[in-house]
Amino acid sequence: MDIYTDNLLKLIVMSDIHLLPKGDVARGLDTAPRFMRAIQSVNTLHKDADLCVFAGDITEKSDVDAYKLFDEIRAGNDLPQRVLLGNHDDRDIYLEHANNPMLDENGFVAGFNDIKGHRILMLDSSEPGEKRGDLCEQRLEWTSERLSEAKAQDLKVILVLHHNPCALQMPVDTYRLAAPEKLLKVLHASGADIIQIIAGHCHITTAGSWGGYPSATISGNQHSVEPFLRGRTGQQDCYEAPAQYAVIMSDGVNCAVHFQCYVNESKIMNPELFPYKLDQKFEIFD
Ligand SMILES: [Fe+2]
Ligand SMILES: [Fe+2]
Repeated sequence: MDIYTDNLLKLIVMSDIHLLPKGDVARGLDTAPRFMRAIQSVNTLHKDADLCVFAGDITEKSDVDAYKLFDEIRAGNDLPQRVLLGNHDDRDIYLEHANNPMLDENGFVAGFNDIKGHRILMLDSSEPGEKRGDLCEQRLEWTSERLSEAKAQDLKVILVLHHNPCALQMPVDTYRLAAPEKLLKVLHASGADIIQIIAGHCHITTAGSWGGYPSATISGNQHSVEPFLRGRTGQQDCYEAPAQYAVIMSDGVNCAVHFQCYVNESKIMNPELFPYKLDQKFEIFD
């Protein structure tokens, strides 16, 4: 390796693993062998990564056995790892069985890693029992403090959370991060150099910006959805693929987000498996 490569951050972000207890299958997709393929893919292609973040929806139904299976499969990867929670997870169940979980001082599954001039800031947007994510005052305050530190230390910030804060103009926006303007206010007020925001949750690959910050989402380990944009009616198609994770590479000036697909066959799934994708409502802006 040369000096440039030694200082180049490589961050893996996986999301929406949606594991069930071993052998259980939802909608014809067994997420466990898919997750094994994801780990195998990272082991083969990105052994040199600095960190691997699992950005929530670790399980489909918060079963203890599914969390155990998650630990079993991810043990096949040697990278430093961090785990975040999504709306399909239950914080209490996860924490009861998690081995050395990431926790902030308020008991939320949040934290940060400072690597090669970057702060990887990982937020807990899960609200057990709620499809929609949220960040309460305590979590916003914590985020603000971590951003101030990053600014003081001249660190570039990459923000990872489960719920997409950016409106995608798709029905999923009705359960994106609640009151995203509160987080945006904290980010703007911090003055921190936020170079990328990345989320899962929406099961689709997107890139764009949110309030001026580069923002991307990944499709994850379960089904993916077609871009079903405002104005569309009827059934939204769901696909068996891609299953993908993000590889973010940053030298502090150049930050690239790659979408690494480890399952790539795109077959439309039976619409009857997704009755809630028929005649969906779009988010209403006040
Ligand atoms: Fe999900
Ligand atoms: Fe989700």
